[in-house]
Amino acid sequence: MFLLGLLPFLAATHAQSTASTFDIELVEANFEAAQLVPELISTFTPEGVLNVTFGGTDISIGQNLTQDAVGSSPTLLVVPSSNATDVSTSNNYTVMMVDADIVGTDEGATGQTRHWLVNNAKLVQGDSGYSVGYDGAISITDYAGPGPAAGSGAHRYVILVYTQPSTFTPPANLSTAHTPLSTFSFSDYVSQTGLGNLVAGNYFLVENGVATVSVPSTTPVNTATLATASTTSGSSSPSGTSSAPSGSKTSSASSSPSSSPSGAAIKQTIGMGAISGAVGIVLAVVAAGLGL
Ligand SMILES: *[C@@H]1O[C@H](CO)[C@@H](O)[C@H](O)[C@H]1NC(C)=O
Ligand SMILES: *[C@@H]1O[C@H](CO)[C@@H](O)[C@H](O)[C@H]1NC(C)=O
Ligand SMILES: *[C@@H]1O[C@H](CO)[C@@H](O)[C@H](O)[C@H]1NC(C)=O
Ligand SMILES: *[C@@H]1O[C@H](CO)[C@@H](O)[C@H](O)[C@H]1NC(C)=O
Ligand SMILES: *[C@@H]1O[C@H](CO)[C@@H](O)[C@H](O)[C@H]1NC(C)=O
Repeated sequence: MFLLGLLPFLAATHAQSTASTFDIELVEANFEAAQLVPELISTFTPEGVLNVTFGGTDISIGQNLTQDAVGSSPTLLVVPSSNATDVSTSNNYTVMMVDADIVGTDEGATGQTRHWLVNNAKLVQGDSGYSVGYDGAISITDYAGPGPAAGSGAHRYVILVYTQPSTFTPPANLSTAHTPLSTFSFSDYVSQTGLGNLVAGNYFLVENGVATVSVPSTTPVNTATLATASTTSGSSSPSGTSSAPSGSKTSSASSSPSSSPSGAAIKQTIGMGAISGAVGIVLAVVAAGLGL
């Protein structure tokens, strides 16, 4: 009785934190500028912002981070937009972190290294948003920090939260807890398991040494353009609205044809690097387990 009386009060105090339209557009623009959309993910309409915190420090989207800074699993918080429909304490979620490799990678032709995969995660409502909780979750692949190969360029590590409907069916080889990291087809996993909407995502960069491969350049997101696009006469400035994200793609696209012929060789090198990087982590884990 006493607890029931508290419920309306709790509900009221929890209803505050929401992500603004600008926050959402910023995520969308960053995923496009980093060419994660549409190369890795064909479309992304976030229902909130995913705050990623390593060792008590929030990352900003697209940030360069050291391997040491991201060695242990982050805490995740979903701050929903006011019209979010899939952010709920009664759903299950799948949390993933994949290595999308460097900008310019043909995501359809190469696999992605799976650094983290959790099914049956939950959202736990709090004052600042919904923290991702793991009560009843199954950690298919335990968090394994990035280990990009030396000289392989700045890899993009993407953390994603999907709704996981009751019809979700994991593949046989990714249904057991503590399956070691490996490369897999991220897009096949998403489409073939029956995952639901991509609710929120974030990404960061980790580079090991100086790149010995050519990485196509990208143009940072111009937030002023975004703010203008979202608040002022959107229809009267169509070129301003669309030129920031697509402009960055045009400029990087124009630089990539020249790297296309050598692109295949680069991808192979990267692929090997990613694999040796992955092996390096496994060996490090094994070594740690043996106390070496
Ligand atoms: C990350 O570092 C690279 C150099 O390795 C630099 O070109 C890029 O601008 C940096 N990105 C951010 C978001 O700081
Ligand atoms: C929320 O509103 C935004 C902007 O109006 C729209 O793009 C988005 O599709 C809406 N999301 C949902 C889940 O309805
Ligand atoms: C979540 O991230 C957004 C964007 O980086 C930031 O504005 C907000 O303060 C963060 N919220 C919390 C609770 O950390
Ligand atoms: C959600 O996950 C729990 C385990 O934590 C499971 O018992 C339940 O069946 C799942 N619900 C759905 C709808 O998949
Ligand atoms: C799981 O098995 C499928 C074939 O059923 C294969 O294509 C895929 O590469 C395997 N995934 C992993 C992570 O081993």
